[in-house]
Amino acid sequence: MRMKADLIDLNDYPVEWWEKLLELGHKIVSDPKAYAHACDGKIMGTLFYEPSTRTQMSFQTAMLRLGGSLIGFDNPATSSVAKGENIKDTTKIVSGYADILVMRHPTAGSVKAAALTAECPVINAGDGGHLHPTQTLTDLLTLKEEKGKLSGLTIGFCGDLKNGRTVHSLIKAMSCFKGNRFVLISTKELALPVYIKDVLSASGLEYKECSDLEKAIGELDVLYMTRIQQERFASKEEYEAQKGCYVLDRKKMVLAKADLIVLHPLPRVDEIEIAVDDDSRAMYFKQAEYGMYIRMALILTVLEGEAHIPLVKGKEHRHTLCSNPNCITHKEHYLPHYFIGDGTTLICEYCDERTLAE
Ligand code: NCD
Repeated sequence: MRMKADLIDLNDYPVEWWEKLLELGHKIVSDPKAYAHACDGKIMGTLFYEPSTRTQMSFQTAMLRLGGSLIGFDNPATSSVAKGENIKDTTKIVSGYADILVMRHPTAGSVKAAALTAECPVINAGDGGHLHPTQTLTDLLTLKEEKGKLSGLTIGFCGDLKNGRTVHSLIKAMSCFKGNRFVLISTKELALPVYIKDVLSASGLEYKECSDLEKAIGELDVLYMTRIQQERFASKEEYEAQKGCYVLDRKKMVLAKADLIVLHPLPRVDEIEIAVDDDSRAMYFKQAEYGMYIRMALILTVLEGEAHIPLVKGKEHRHTLCSNPNCITHKEHYLPHYFIGDGTTLICEYCDERTLAE
């Protein structure tokens, strides 16, 4: 299997690699102009099969600020995807035109599927409700710059912990640092998936689940608010039942620590009252700005070709189908069924769900 500097899951790389990236991010924040020609002559392709404002534009701005150029689409309906082209063919071709690809897609595991056949490195800009590693890099840079550390923090995650890919990626990352505590605030319908709870359990770090933001807010150093992910619900009724379940307002902020920081990957719908924006602890707009700087650091690092990871760690199990109906293997049937493990329970390499071996 070919090795490339793809970024599908941050945890594919060692923590030292993230730390180097954060150091570079910090240098870029202090002097962005020093990098104005670092990617002269390079081309980035952005393939966005799903809506995006911040991720797409911050990636594009990052490349332009590095001196590079852009190709791509933000609406698959205006590309050959509308004619029925599969992920393999689209990414194979565009990766031959560009030096680096950034891709977002509504299906879990889709970006890994693209990376398997792409000619150049592929960055995951969000694959369904699964992962969002570059939002996590954004969050880590924000924590490092604003809290001065990535360890010893009590972090509350509130809202749609089931479908929120930014939550999944950030929990996986923060569980690698000593002394972090996790408070998972959600309704039982929107609780964290078992495979992420397994990561927490394996880390040995403390975590608890609760449903009351007002009760939990006082003990937090960081509050990570999230949008209820309407587009990932099976029916309108199920979404309506969860809509508006958590709202951070000024009354709740009174109960919080003076040095709390409030993060949100954005977009916000109604889960943070607009009046909270004026509170100095509201960090979400600054967080979005850090996103551009860390993406500059990422593009540079990937194009320097220093990072190399094997994409497939397990092996093909031809007769086993992933149990997750939202996994890309159910939509793109040519994909090899790669799983990790050898026993009766296998882990899908695309979406991380557990499946019984056939
Ligand atoms: C998030 C996403 O796309 O997962 N947005 C982002 O990239 N900043 C969060 C969301 O859509 O709620």
